[in-house]
Amino acid sequence: MSLSIIYSRASSGITAPLVTVETHLSFGMNAFLIVGLPEAAVKESRDRVRSALINTQFEFPDRRITINLAPADLPKEGSRFDLPIALGILAASGQIPAEILTDYEFTGELALSGELRPVRGVLPVVLSSWQSGRKLIVPYQNAEEAALVQPAKVLSAKHLLEVCAHLRGEQSLSYCLKRGSETLSINHQQPDLADVRGQTQAKRALEVSAAGQHSLLFVGQPGTGKTMLASRLPGILPDISEEQSLEVASIASVSSQGFHPDNWKQIPFRAPHHTSSSAALVGGGRPPRPGEISLAHHGVLFLDELPEFHRHALECLREPLESGMITISRAAIQTQFPAKFQLIATMNPCPCGYAGSKAQFCQCTSEQIQRYRGKISGPLLDRIDMNVEVTRLPPEFLLDENIDQETSAMVRDRVMQSRELQMQRQGKLNVALTVPDMDEHARLQADAKSLLIQVTNKFNLSARACHRIVKVSRTIADLQGSRDIVAEHLAEALNYRCLDKTRMVR
Ligand SMILES: Nc1ncnc2c1ncn2[C@@H]1O[C@H](COP(=O)(O)OP(=O)(O)OP(=O)(O)O)[C@@H](O)[C@H]1O
Ligand SMILES: [Mg+2]
Ligand SMILES: [Zn+2]
Repeated sequence: MSLSIIYSRASSGITAPLVTVETHLSFGMNAFLIVGLPEAAVKESRDRVRSALINTQFEFPDRRITINLAPADLPKEGSRFDLPIALGILAASGQIPAEILTDYEFTGELALSGELRPVRGVLPVVLSSWQSGRKLIVPYQNAEEAALVQPAKVLSAKHLLEVCAHLRGEQSLSYCLKRGSETLSINHQQPDLADVRGQTQAKRALEVSAAGQHSLLFVGQPGTGKTMLASRLPGILPDISEEQSLEVASIASVSSQGFHPDNWKQIPFRAPHHTSSSAALVGGGRPPRPGEISLAHHGVLFLDELPEFHRHALECLREPLESGMITISRAAIQTQFPAKFQLIATMNPCPCGYAGSKAQFCQCTSEQIQRYRGKISGPLLDRIDMNVEVTRLPPEFLLDENIDQETSAMVRDRVMQSRELQMQRQGKLNVALTVPDMDEHARLQADAKSLLIQVTNKFNLSARACHRIVKVSRTIADLQGSRDIVAEHLAEALNYRCLDKTRMVR
């Protein structure tokens, strides 16, 4: 037999499309050709495979070797195909049995010694190969990650020789085993809300935002506890499911940082620095890697000091905030990553931080204030459901250790109850309600409706802002266990729109 077929997987977004590695040995001038890989990757892969085969005492065929990685138009990263290419050559030259190879899929980089090196993005590979019904062999260092997909059965190997021994039926490889739940720590430590003194309104806003998954912007003077409050959001959110965790892990798996099994089931909390580039924030590069917004999928994206971010980077958030997905276009290739995150952000009211303060004089001119606020465009602001003023706490509150503070666990219980109510009623959280959904599930009582009409006219609110206010008031009613949305609920939602009012300009 001089032709062999081996299955492997490429990486595209968080999917892993099937790649068929066809190897053909023919007579003619000696050559080693690889078709279907980018030029640079071909050269490197060829050198590694040749050395690995020679160093493991296999015979490197004295023939014309042609390898075709199909489909040709699928973008492929080189190193993960080393193992399938090496096996393809061994099978085509009769050094390992070819018949059983199609029951398997392989991925792995080869060291020159024949040792297997880990590949990036192994989780999507495991998921796809499991769905195909074939067995998968991965490098040993990927085993722990691969084992997260249950009940997929994945084999791991440290060396090319181990893989060959397994295929010849001489010595079976072992399955990747999932760590016990006691070592796979699900008890992730979070800062507690009880550390924050006072700030009842801001804490309440945080609870409402957590319950309905509404985006939230805290506005206030320096040192009032905005950063402290925002970083306590993950601690009052319900756990993510196995299925969600697998998606989160798949995104991390294909990212440049990779996935660490210790982070299994941890709610993503991403707090990129304001100097982050657009590509770091929304994803990019070649091949495209997910950015912070995708790493925050099913979790929280925290943008501290929002106006300090590059304007272009902020504008890139508009699409994913609406659709929960991001599309990265590079030349002819488009890659999609999921990006369904809850946004929480902070800002000062002006560059010096003291606009609106009674205690301290604001030194900014009104142009400076306008320019500062203008860094966050209207359309972006329009997509933030709640903007809440955090005021300075009187020192007697700050230093009073007798105040009984609610813990994150107590707030979390209410958040979970309210979410259950939302799921039972409409099968989704309030943030995701569409206009027809709202007609059905978030109808305002007459008094609430006339209040909203009044306010919308007075502050010239957009239709989008108006709908967002209704959704937030739906959540407020849910937290109270009320079926109807009355004026009181709507009035509270309107309270979380401090930037719509002029009150914060001095
Ligand atoms: N309500 C509070 N309870 C307890 N400590 C507080 C509170 N508010 C502020 N602090 C203290 O002040 C510090 C600064 O708070 P934080 O960093 O959250 O302020 P900030 O509003 O983000 O300020 P900036 O606008 O300068 O970023 C906290 O580390 C904490 O020690
Ligand atoms: Mg801060
Ligand atoms: Zn100022």
